[in-house]
Amino acid sequence: MAIVSATEMINKAHEGHYAIPAFNTNNLEWTQCILKAVEETKTPVMIQTSEGAAKYMGGYKLVVDMVNDLIDSMGITVPVALHLDHGSYEGALKCIEVGYSSVMFDGSHFDIDENLKKSKEIIDLAHSKGVSVECEVGGIGGTEDGVTSSGELADPAECKAVADLGVDFLAAGIGNIHGKYPENWAGLNFDRLAEIKEATNNKPLVLHGGSGIPFEQTSKAITLGVSKININTELQLVFADATRKYIEAGKDLEGKGYDPRKLLKPGADAIVAKAVELCKAFGAAGKA
Ligand code: 13P
Repeated sequence: MAIVSATEMINKAHEGHYAIPAFNTNNLEWTQCILKAVEETKTPVMIQTSEGAAKYMGGYKLVVDMVNDLIDSMGITVPVALHLDHGSYEGALKCIEVGYSSVMFDGSHFDIDENLKKSKEIIDLAHSKGVSVECEVGGIGGTEDGVTSSGELADPAECKAVADLGVDFLAAGIGNIHGKYPENWAGLNFDRLAEIKEATNNKPLVLHGGSGIPFEQTSKAITLGVSKININTELQLVFADATRKYIEAGKDLEGKGYDPRKLLKPGADAIVAKAVELCKAFGAAGKA
């Protein structure tokens, strides 16, 4: 199966009250681990790259080819969408051109009129090519790819304006933060989420910064219209932790323990285990 647009899987998740896990990938092993986890749990998935991660891996085209080739060589049967995360205008255009099946245009740093104008252009172009689109209103707290956003609660009226453009799913700040949550984090703002759901006439919503949010909160967010949950940091943390333990135990110094296929194995196993746990927690396991 080749990569598919995310529209159908997100709409099904929205109707069925679960959320599609959207895992950020960083390299070949990461992508293999995500695919292994979703095939094992029969989960429809979005694999996403930031612009920085795609550049790190060798470019958008390489990512498209890598994901398509892995789907083929690993015999993946579940629907997989390849999505650009926090795309610039130029990045979104490029990804549509080279074969991403879904793009996010993040115009949240523009004023709302400029955000609306550019979002509309990307939506029209993407839809003409069967590519799904996510847009963002207001900022998501935290730092990602060097971009820091301080806005945390999106304005429901602005959300309505972007939803009315025909975007497929909408990212809106509800107190969520990229990266690790601070000890004193106030939690998701469900009142604001309910207002956004109402204002956007029940548009599928995206929860960024999905790493480390207690599952009671993600489950409640799903009941209020969240249909895609983004995960990056959590897989990075379990990978780093397992790799550190391997090295601290001196395993890289035993036999050929320095071979990357051995050195990266504990981290890879940890990514698969965490991704499986999240697919189940978001209710998406078994939905492919
Ligand atoms: P985390 O790194 O906090 O999981 O956030 C991922 C994300 O929202 C990507 O856009």
